Amino acid sequence: MGVAAVLVLFLASFAASAEASALHLKGGVVVNADQETLADLLIDNGKVLEVGPPGSLMAPDAEVIDASGKYIMPGGIDTHTHLDSLFMGQNTPDDFFSGQAAALAGGTTCHLDMVMPQKGGDILGGYARYREAAKRSVMDYSFHIVITHWNDQVEEAMGKLVEQGLQSFKFFMAYKGKLQVSDELLAHAFRRCRQLGAIPLVHAENGDAIDKEQQRLIKAGITGPEGHQLSRPPIVEEEATFRAVMFANLANVPLFVVHVMSRGAMEVIAKARTAGQRVIGETLASAIGLNQSLIWSSDFTTASKFVMSPPIRTEEHRLAVRAGLAGGALQLVATDHCGWTSAQKALGRESFLKMPNGVNGIEERMHVAWQQLINSGLASPSRFVEVTSTAAAKVFNLYPQKGVIQAGADADVILLDPNAEHTISASSHHSKGDINIFEGNKIRGKVVMTISQGKVVWDGSSLHVQRGAGRFLPRPAFGDLYKGLDERDAIRSAEMYPYGPVPVKRDLAALHAKQEL
Ligand code: URP
Ligand code: ZN
Ligand code: ZN
Repeated sequence: MGVAAVLVLFLASFAASAEASALHLKGGVVVNADQETLADLLIDNGKVLEVGPPGSLMAPDAEVIDASGKYIMPGGIDTHTHLDSLFMGQNTPDDFFSGQAAALAGGTTCHLDMVMPQKGGDILGGYARYREAAKRSVMDYSFHIVITHWNDQVEEAMGKLVEQGLQSFKFFMAYKGKLQVSDELLAHAFRRCRQLGAIPLVHAENGDAIDKEQQRLIKAGITGPEGHQLSRPPIVEEEATFRAVMFANLANVPLFVVHVMSRGAMEVIAKARTAGQRVIGETLASAIGLNQSLIWSSDFTTASKFVMSPPIRTEEHRLAVRAGLAGGALQLVATDHCGWTSAQKALGRESFLKMPNGVNGIEERMHVAWQQLINSGLASPSRFVEVTSTAAAKVFNLYPQKGVIQAGADADVILLDPNAEHTISASSHHSKGDINIFEGNKIRGKVVMTISQGKVVWDGSSLHVQRGAGRFLPRPAFGDLYKGLDERDAIRSAEMYPYGPVPVKRDLAALHAKQEL
């Protein structure tokens, strides 16, 4: 992080927040997932008060913001982050303060973080730790809860968490011997999610197959960062995605597949959706913005930056996933922000097995998505809003509080100047890590203002955030994705049981009597 950025964060953390005044945004193009309109916007008390034709809104006391030539869009929602997290024996450099400040500087105003398991597997205790860590928050957030083992206490804890407004549980199908769950656990857990109205998330890679590939590669002396990627070819992602989709079908539960990085996995999801199954595919800024070429760099530090799971893939996969996101095969783009320092990456110097997996993205996602979807001509600004914000709000039951600009919604709003050019660099980013996988990427289109909870928190060059201002967002179970599932269950049941879901009556006594004769 550059000196200027350090200073801004330092000042921001101690600055008393200015009293929020009403804001009157004039002359911008308001973009929602369903339409673009030239409009003015009034914001007060943390909410969108009114959206109206240019010149139609009256607010003499409001601070006027000239939005002409800019897009006014809902703040981004990142469905997949790891802040203040312990993973592969390392603590992520970004906590809820630095990670969220970085997010705001990049136009993301809300995120869902992964509650990783604690030693001893205490799920509720682990969740409490994250709630405590999130007290440093500067923007709104919620959580997914990672489940790695199964027993009666886990089932009970899931019920309690749903009552507290957590409606999504994450399962790792990889990281053998650490986080990986069995098929048996998935089968149990998907049924439990269905019962609770919760959404299961899967990290879909075949951990057993990867383990074997890792052993083979290490034995062959391939210990560098490229070994990581070679041990996790697209086929292990595709296979696990297919398995998760089939298990979800069996339980008739919606499924959310995190970080889709390859064409095959995307096609599995698209096929299931075409058949009417509720499967949501999340891809990442790293998947649509980068290919794997630099993992082959002869410079270790450069190559190590790109080690993440599933791996960043070839250009062919990048283009396919990007087109799938634009065209609707995939539903949204997140980051899986789990940035590390170069010193932490260097722990994998002797073997890629020891290198912390993960990359940055929370600050870059909106810009990378704009560059890849809009400047490529693949998508409209409305589709950009859909995949960066609205779809996330709908899937995780935050809509219409978040994900839309309309009267009554939270005033999480960004202004994007489509003509402003900038270059991504670790020297100017706000994350704590000293590396940026998008280093040197030139972007046309810049978030020149971020408004969070009705306050200007990013003015295009400085952050004005307040530690503790972020709020936990409870998310009720049985959201939109659950509508109609009971009817589907009833129809399936009628098809499966011609006489109803009861045992078939058979006269066994008569059979016994006959056998005794
Ligand atoms: O490499 C990654 N993706 N690190 C974060 C943990 C995960 O698998 O999501
Ligand atoms: Zn993962
Ligand atoms: Zn992750």
